Amino acid sequence: MVSKKFMVSLYDFGLVGLGVMGRNFILNVADHQFSAFGLDTDPVKVSDLKLEGAGKKIDGTTDKLVFIQNLSRPRKIMLLVPAGGPVDSVIYELLPHLEPGDLLIDGGNSHFSDTNRRFDQLAEKEIHFMGAGVSGGSKGARFGPSIMPGGNEASYKIIQPIFEAVSAKVNNEPCVDFMGHGSAGNYVKMIHNGIEYGLMQLIGESYHIMKQGLGLNNFELQKVYSKWNEGDLQSFLIEITAGIFSVQDDLGSGELVDKILDKAKQKGTGKWTSQNAMDMGMPIPTIDAAVAMRQISASKEIRTEVSQKYKSTERESGIVIDTLDVEKAFYFAFMITYAQGMSQLGVASSEYHYDLNLERIAKIWRGGCIIRSRFLEDMRVAFSKNSELPTLLLDPVIIEKIKETVMSARKVVQFSVGNGIPSMALANTLNYFDAFSSSNLPLNLIQAQRDYFGSHTYERNDREGVFHSEWK
Ligand code: 6PG
Repeated sequence: MVSKKFMVSLYDFGLVGLGVMGRNFILNVADHQFSAFGLDTDPVKVSDLKLEGAGKKIDGTTDKLVFIQNLSRPRKIMLLVPAGGPVDSVIYELLPHLEPGDLLIDGGNSHFSDTNRRFDQLAEKEIHFMGAGVSGGSKGARFGPSIMPGGNEASYKIIQPIFEAVSAKVNNEPCVDFMGHGSAGNYVKMIHNGIEYGLMQLIGESYHIMKQGLGLNNFELQKVYSKWNEGDLQSFLIEITAGIFSVQDDLGSGELVDKILDKAKQKGTGKWTSQNAMDMGMPIPTIDAAVAMRQISASKEIRTEVSQKYKSTERESGIVIDTLDVEKAFYFAFMITYAQGMSQLGVASSEYHYDLNLERIAKIWRGGCIIRSRFLEDMRVAFSKNSELPTLLLDPVIIEKIKETVMSARKVVQFSVGNGIPSMALANTLNYFDAFSSSNLPLNLIQAQRDYFGSHTYERNDREGVFHSEWK
């Protein structure tokens, strides 16, 4: 029998990367009766963790060997380091010290193709690898994120108790579940972020319309968004938007929002969503518009110069709208943004053999993540009734909601277009809807043109076969 004196108590969970997200996540783990050990090359981050984790079963080091030796087997190690090269570097550093059966989890926003490569490379060494999307920002990491793990079911079982304990809960159900094979977790998180981009851009447009078009001040905007947050649009993003308008500038007078430069940055996940949608032939024009608007916003100097040249052009819509129209228009657009993302997930599920369960995804997005909203439950119910639904536009409950709001969307688009208030995401959403609800589109003409200049052939609507005509 081993004497008590020599028994070493090993830690349940290891975390590499003690930046804000990593520190918060590891503290969350330690809050749930699991012991946790952190690793970072920066000694300040390690001592910060020890300080904040005082009284919890938590420790940290800058030495990778000390880290590895202190973890119970199979080791459960999560990386929360920037996507790309840093993930590969950490894997490279740790790999010689890992043993078959150990589990490495990449909790960052890695591109799904990188995850596939790492998954295969590590499988050769019998190391489990998991790409797990983690959403909810730093607060979510600390008090309950939504977690989207992929990989294989066996590795999920190893980490399931910890992930279920630390994740957000909705109706006592954890906002985490196994997403699917290989890179499914990162893929689902990428779509989450694409939807996040779409919703954020839509909210930005609603702000522009109500500020510039309806003349609302920050105090009034705060009231409007707070009210919206009590209705159909109830969501994390609307809630924080309401909060933003009442924050005062601590470096000057007035509200802080008015002092922020109108250039939005991006780390790239929204762009990846659009790129991948293009590759798969999936139309997601709301998300595309959100990416394009961030790009346009970056050209501040050119925008300013162009704006001088066109200052005097006439703007008039002849349309009168109120904040209720805007609320309904943006509820319409919110629903269709989710619909675009879910359709992309449905196609990716077979394209990449992920075998995604869309109801399960809607379920774990109901809490903890950035796109959580009241609508997620409608979406969950829609996929529970029909798991093969190709578009949410065909769900009977959502059909009624779309019918109730589409006229407001038309009015608000007319208003903003007439008044020269950019509303690319809202207009694209309406056009997407109009196109998807048209059984006849003018694309017969495109086929005729293709055949005219390139003999590309066309199909007919009255008989089978492939045809070519001499057009001249
Ligand atoms: C989340 C977020 C998060 C992402 C930020 C910034 O779910 O918690 O999606 O993962 O890093 O939203 O993204 P951008 O820099 O691309 O705007």
